[in-house]
Order: sequence, then structure tokens, then C-alpha cells
Amino acid sequence: MTERLNILSDCWRDRVAEAVDWLTAKGFAGRVGLILGSGLGNFADAVDDSQAVEYGDIPGYTTTSVAEHTGRLVCGTAAGVPVVVMQGRLHPYEGLPFDELLLPTAVLACLGIETAIVTNAAGGLNRYYVPGDLMVIRDQIDLHLHDPLRGLLAQPFAPAAGADAKTAALLAEVGRSGGVPDLFDPSLARKLVAAAAETGVPMHSGTYASMYGPAYEAKAEIGMLRRMGCDAVGMSTAPETVLLKRMGVSPVGLSCITNPARETGQPELSHQDVVTVGKMVRDRMARLLLAFLPKV
Ligand code: HPA
Repeated sequence: MTERLNILSDCWRDRVAEAVDWLTAKGFAGRVGLILGSGLGNFADAVDDSQAVEYGDIPGYTTTSVAEHTGRLVCGTAAGVPVVVMQGRLHPYEGLPFDELLLPTAVLACLGIETAIVTNAAGGLNRYYVPGDLMVIRDQIDLHLHDPLRGLLAQPFAPAAGADAKTAALLAEVGRSGGVPDLFDPSLARKLVAAAAETGVPMHSGTYASMYGPAYEAKAEIGMLRRMGCDAVGMSTAPETVLLKRMGVSPVGLSCITNPARETGQPELSHQDVVTVGKMVRDRMARLLLAFLPKV
């Protein structure tokens, strides 16, 4: 996966490569990567022939300080598909610089995955969403308002790895990377919806807003997000998916709605509440993912 490493800036590449070499020597590789959000980590139990390492043992990894984010990388097969699973993730609100925050995502891409299923816990902005619902992420609005890849790419203006010839030619013409067309692959999103229908799991499709946190949103922010057209709000995912796409990996996003986010007044919300609802739906989510994986 040296092509993917070469996308990274000099100062970041060596740190990512060290972790990739260490994990590759242990046999870590896969076709699909999964990033599991708050309270959703149990999917890792469904991985067969698995091996796991603690983040703290991987060279260059920062361990997460968030409760219920176990912090392990698991590799094996799920529904017959070779997978690498990040059980727990880092968040911008932990106060980390983006090179530290995104290092595990860059490593995941360099372990050879083609697709990444990125999951999160989120507040439901859409008035039809109730706790326990699932939403396939159609698109995202990154309200960190900071380019998460700043300083991390060798050629910031280059098209994403694997971009089709038409996009690459267009970008060459305008001389910079432009936008990120179809960050979330619509055909994969449709397959996830199909897997949900097969398994009898209700599924919404919507736009995810990514905020810094760590505080949950104020009423006025919830009003703003709803008027911007966002259906769900969380504190992760957006920086990771932008990096994955740039590295030639197709992201699929899945939010678990753990609470309503109402501008009329959100109930006092704690991380533990979010984790509790995550735990309630995680079996359903694991069933859905096992049905989806063979379609990827
Ligand atoms: N806001 C932001 N992040 C979240 C929420 C929320 O309401 N619920 C779970 N993660």
C-alpha cells in the first residue's frame, strides 16, 4: 500500500508507515474497514478468527480518553469478508491535533481496505427520528470549519486516489482538488438500505453534521443545524471520511440516533445516555452489518 502512503506529507508518512509495518507483520489486512462509534463496539465480537491489539501497543497511536471507546484494532473475517475493525476512535473534542486524531484512519487505509463503514452515535435533528433509529449518511457538513487534512498530504491539490479520469482531468484543468464529489458512494448507501430491508431494520437516509463538542448543542445551534438541512448531529466521522476518500477508500456512513436534538429544549444529555441507547440498538446494527458486508 505504498501508493497510499505516498499521498501523505513527508512529516506524517513515516509515523503512519511505522504503525502499518508493525500491524502488517502481525497479519493485519482486510477488504473492509469498520470504525465503531460510542456504545457500538460489540460488532467486533462478531469477527471470526480474530486477533486484536490495544491501541496503546501500536506505535504512534494515542489512546482514547472516552468511556466506552475500548481502543482496540481487531482483524479477522465477518460474514466471510476480511475486515479490520477500529473498536473505538479519537475525537476532535479530546483536544488532539488532526495528525494524531487521523493517524489510525490513515493506517486503516494503508492496510489495504477498499471500503470503510464509519459508524457513530448521533442526535436526531429530523423531527421523524426517534432514539434507536439508524440513518445511512447521504452527505455531511463538517462544522469543525477546519481542513482536517491541512499539512497531512504530499499534494494537497491533487485529485483523490482512484478518482475517475473525468474528475482527474477537470481537477487538472482548475489546478486544485476542488470539492469532494459523492463523498459517500451512493451505490454502497443503496446496498446498505437494501440490507436493512432484508433484515427488517428500519433505516433513514440523511445529512450528518459534525460539531466539535464536547458539549451537546445549545437550542440555537440545533435550530441552525435543522435549518441548514441536517438530519443528525454528532462529534466525529467527518474528518475521517474526508481522509479516507482522499486515500482512495469508499466511505459508507451509518448513524445510530441515540437522542432527539430539539430546539425546543433537549433533555439534559450525558455521554452515558448516548452509550445506553447505543447498547440497546447495537445487536440490530450488528445484524445489519453482517447482512451488508457480503454486498460490499
Ligand atoms: N449531539 C452531538 N453528538 C451526539 C449527540 C448529540 O445530540 N448524541 C450523540 N452524539
